[in-house]
Amino acid sequence: NYVKTHDHDLVPHKGFKLINGTHDPDDVDQIYNLEIRDSDVFVVTYPKSGTIWMQQIVLLLEAKGDLTAISKLSKNSNADLIPWIEVNGNRETFINAPSPRMRVSHLPFQFMPSALSQKKGKVIYVARNPKDVIVSYFYFHKLANMLETPKDFDDFFEKFMRGNVFGCSWFEHIKMWHSHQDDMNMLFITYEEMIQDLHSVVERIALFLGKELTDEQMANVVKHSTFNNMKKIPQANYEQVPGELLSHHQGRFMRKGTIGDWKNHFTVAQNEMFDEVFHREMADIPLVFIWDI
Ligand code: A3P
Repeated sequence: NYVKTHDHDLVPHKGFKLINGTHDPDDVDQIYNLEIRDSDVFVVTYPKSGTIWMQQIVLLLEAKGDLTAISKLSKNSNADLIPWIEVNGNRETFINAPSPRMRVSHLPFQFMPSALSQKKGKVIYVARNPKDVIVSYFYFHKLANMLETPKDFDDFFEKFMRGNVFGCSWFEHIKMWHSHQDDMNMLFITYEEMIQDLHSVVERIALFLGKELTDEQMANVVKHSTFNNMKKIPQANYEQVPGELLSHHQGRFMRKGTIGDWKNHFTVAQNEMFDEVFHREMADIPLVFIWDI
C-alpha cells in the first residue's frame, strides 16, 4: 500500500514546467547569470536519455577508470559528485565549488547559463530516440515520487505528446539545444551510439574533455560503465537514494538499457501519430535516430 510522499504538481514557469518541491522558480531563473569557468562541464539531457550513464563515464574519466575512488566519494549516488544544477540549493553550492565543477541538467536551453553560448565551459548533450524516451519515462514516473504515477501507458503517451511533463516537450528541448550547438563547446552524443560502440564514444568524450588515459585505464572506464556492471554498482544505480524520493520497489534506474523497447509498448496508431509529429517537428533538424537494432 504505497502512498506518494511528495507533492508532485508541475509548476508552470515561463512556458516551462518545474516540479514543485524539487525546483524553485526564482533559483532556476538565476542559473542563467551564473559565471562559468572554462573547466566547467555540463551534461545536458532530456530525462531518460542516458543522464546517469554519462555521469558515470565522466566521473570515471576524471578518476582514470578507478571505480573504488568514485564509490568512496559518493555516499548515496553519483549525483553527490555530479548534481543537477536546477535542483533546490544546488546553484548556491556550484558558485564556490572547486574546479572542475561537473553538473548535469535537464533544463531547456533558455534557462542555462548564457556564458555557455560564449564558448565558456563545456557541454555534453546526450540525445536518445524519443520513442524509447517515452517508454523509459513512463516507467520512471512509477519509480520517482516527485512525479505523478500515470494511469497507464496511453495516459502517459498523451501527456508526453502534449509536453505536459517536467521541463518542456522533447521536441522543444532537442531543437533548442541542437540548433545552438555551434555557439557552445558542445559534444553531441546519442544514446544509440553509446549502445553500439561504447568504447569509441568514451574516447570521443576523453578527447573532448582533454583527458589522457592509458589503454588500460580507458578499458576500465568502459568496463565500469556497461549496463550490467552499472546495475551492480549501488551509487550508479541510485539504490541508496532515500525511499521518499525513489520507490525502489517500483523499479530501477537501470531498467532495460536497450534500443527499441517502444515496440513492446506503442500501438500502431500511437506509432503513426508519433511519426507524423516527429517528421513535422524535426523537418529542419538534421538528426538521424536509430529506432531499432
Ligand atoms: P531504460 O528505462 O530504457 O532501461 P536517465 O539516466 O537519463 O534517467 O536514463 C535512464 C535510462 O538509461 C534507462 O533506460 C537506463 O536503463 C539507461 N541506462 C543507464 N545506464 C545505462 C548503460 N550503462 N547502458 C545502457 N543503458 C543505460
